[in-house]
Amino acid sequence: MKQIRNFCVIAHIDHGKSTLSDRLLQMTQTISDRDMKAQALDDMDLERERGITIKSHAIQLNYMHTDGQEYILNLIDTPGHVDFSYEVSRSIAACEGALLIVDATQGIQAQTISNLFLALEHDLEIIPILNKIDMDTAMVERVSGQIIDLIGCPEKDILHASGKTGQGVAEILTAIVDRIPPPLGDPAAPLQALIFDSIFNPFRGAIANIRILNGTLRKGDKVRFLATGNDYSADEIGVLKMDYLPKQEISAGNVGYIITGIKQSSEIKVGDTLTLADRPAEPIQGFEEVKPMVFAGIFPLDNDDFEDLRDSLEKLQLNDASLVFEPESSAALGFGFRCGFLGMLHLDIIQERLSREFNQDVITTIPNVSYRAYIRREPDTVLNVRNPTDLPEPTILDRVEEPYISAQIITETEYIGNIMNLCIEKRGILTKQHYLSPERVELNFELPLAEIVFDFYDRLKSISRGYASFDYQPLDYRASDLVKLDIKLNSENVDALSALVHRSKAEAFGRKICKKLKELLPRQQFVIAIQAAIGGKIIARETVSAMRKDVTAKCYGGDISRKRKLLEKQKAGKKKMRQFGKIEVPQKAFLDVLKLD
Ligand code: GTP
Repeated sequence: MKQIRNFCVIAHIDHGKSTLSDRLLQMTQTISDRDMKAQALDDMDLERERGITIKSHAIQLNYMHTDGQEYILNLIDTPGHVDFSYEVSRSIAACEGALLIVDATQGIQAQTISNLFLALEHDLEIIPILNKIDMDTAMVERVSGQIIDLIGCPEKDILHASGKTGQGVAEILTAIVDRIPPPLGDPAAPLQALIFDSIFNPFRGAIANIRILNGTLRKGDKVRFLATGNDYSADEIGVLKMDYLPKQEISAGNVGYIITGIKQSSEIKVGDTLTLADRPAEPIQGFEEVKPMVFAGIFPLDNDDFEDLRDSLEKLQLNDASLVFEPESSAALGFGFRCGFLGMLHLDIIQERLSREFNQDVITTIPNVSYRAYIRREPDTVLNVRNPTDLPEPTILDRVEEPYISAQIITETEYIGNIMNLCIEKRGILTKQHYLSPERVELNFELPLAEIVFDFYDRLKSISRGYASFDYQPLDYRASDLVKLDIKLNSENVDALSALVHRSKAEAFGRKICKKLKELLPRQQFVIAIQAAIGGKIIARETVSAMRKDVTAKCYGGDISRKRKLLEKQKAGKKKMRQFGKIEVPQKAFLDVLKLD
């Protein structure tokens, strides 16, 4: 165990974790120069295209130290976006140390601080790294000062590096061995392994990534998952290189994987403890359960695909422990699932992965947070309202509470005014204003979660020209004046477009949704009335006028082949439409209504 080091790479989004991890892989020859491509650990196309890490990635490096000994370094790269901080917390639980990367051109940002605190809570050894020092705009002295203020370390402990040029990477490897303590644990004790991630492979089933705290796991062992109590055979075990590398045994202190042939997501729980069936150990404590923040219905475009959708969601859940779902039905959309997400980016990614990896085109209903409803004369009954249709009728409803968060925003002083205005508009309360330096300030707000999940992040970025970073944690539940806003198309309620909104925002929201739907709905042969209503009261209305008849033939001056092509194109488009009575609504419209200007 003295030769093992387990560490994760944490940072604010885009500060260069993946690029620096690439250099670590290269320098330890884990990946050859020939096979090297940018963001080598981000194996999803989606991650590459968007340039973001969505999922944590674990990999083992072999490193020859200057002391002449070879060390095993288990690296876990983590995502930086606030939606995925759960992935960070899981990775941290599997490590003894963390590389805290700070972009020298940006300085300390909100998630630098929150990820650092997560790591400190788990007593991780922190190696601060000032990254991107190759850039002309690097502010080495100023950002070093910020790091010293934050961590309280001496200046000499801060390593300078560039993931782009490779400068300083050798020093980082040395520091990992010298500064991060080797894992503790007893290889002879009963097996106690933490499942910190799982990946679904269509041929092999679920592959669980594990960190062994105590004991030894051998190929063929009869293992038990403590959460379910079910036993399986360890068909294959091994360590994580660029590919899976099978081994006969892995023992305390090490990170690896296990394949047991499990195909159902309910059988493997991230955070669960793996042990031996004939010599079980105690479960590992202190692993945080994932808490979804946003809920939305996901429905198949075609009702016949319901079971396939369930299957796909289950497989996706094996890859993404933070996705939760349960069946639900909608008058407008039939059978589907109410899913819980970590935030809007997560929702967007799940929808995209369903389409790309499982060929499932889905409709996503308007998302909302989870409210608590109290019923009159039943003080002990608390309903968790995750779906607008679950909100009790006003006649029996006593009160509703909504979740609040505590938010930290770090920005340049010149943007304070804009940010204050935004947060006040979002019903926020300023709780702290702290100057980190004469130019930089940390603002703390208490805000309703519902106000920040949709467009807050984008608006914050635009009003601060990108010079504001943002992070949040759940706080508590507070009384809320909540109403259910219904959308009607030609007087028919479309429950998939219903939303739960604060009364003070309902009218403006209703008007915006109607306006946006007017843009999104294709014209039909008849007039479409779009209405927003609270209870029986109509609060907004728009009209989509009817299409002129025979428009295609006229447009193309009777050119039959062009007309046919156009009709074919329209037919292809129809596949992504959903019919409500006679009205066709494009699949994307359900989420696009939220892209309010
Ligand atoms: P997320 O995983 O999405 O949080 O991003 P990340 O922290 O992994 O950042 P990533 O490595 O993707 O780098 C973000 C951007 O910074 C990319 O465009 C990189 O090319 C660039 N970059 C990263 N490191 C360096 C560096 O040392 N120097 C320069 N000049 N650019 C860098």
